[in-house]
Amino acid sequence: MEFKKAHFVTGAPSLDECPEAYYPEICLAGRSNVGKSSLINALMNHKGLARTSNTPGKTREMNYYLVDDKTYLVDLPGFGYAKVSKKERERWGRDIRAYLLERPTLRLVIHLVDIRHKPSKLDEEFFYWLGAQRLPFVVVLTKGDKLSHNKRQQSKARVKRILDEMNIEVPIVISSVKDKTGIEEVKKLISE
Ligand code: GTP
Ligand code: MG
Repeated sequence: MEFKKAHFVTGAPSLDECPEAYYPEICLAGRSNVGKSSLINALMNHKGLARTSNTPGKTREMNYYLVDDKTYLVDLPGFGYAKVSKKERERWGRDIRAYLLERPTLRLVIHLVDIRHKPSKLDEEFFYWLGAQRLPFVVVLTKGDKLSHNKRQQSKARVKRILDEMNIEVPIVISSVKDKTGIEEVKKLISE
């Protein structure tokens, strides 16, 4: 893939409202504020493409971006944001799981975790669930610029141990949209 051009297609609140399942698609999942929308912008080298915010809970729908006229990148609403109503959190569970299980063109889930934090219970459950469903996924540890080299490696090793315990073997990439660490690696994983 070239990652040359992209445009916003639509925001879908649920599976029924997603565009026709035609192009292969890659989705970005993870806690609110982890950097999903920022990663889309970094992949496309286009700052204002996906809306980002300091306030968690910015992305509320599954936002579809068409890349190079042949692949969808899907920015999912973040999970685990405490200030979101219980109803909305349940909706995440239901609607996003339905999307992940039933979207025939879904090829890869990119699960983002903030490198500074130990994966939350929700993150761990999500790893486990993706593994159990045999959904292809990779883990991206975001905001790598916020830690020293040693701390970054420690954090990566911690995530690897958690995945090893689940018998899950997937790539783990450290990223930063600030210094562009890992962006090429993520592009490569998407292309593959
Ligand atoms: P929701 O839409 O609320 O689920 O959040 P999101 O996962 O889309 O996060 P978003 O991309 O909006 O980023 C949240 C905040 O983290 C913003 O203030 C970003 O500037 C910041 N951020 C994202 N990636 C990085 C990074 O690699 N390094 C640093 N230092 N900040 C980052
Ligand atoms: Mg977002």
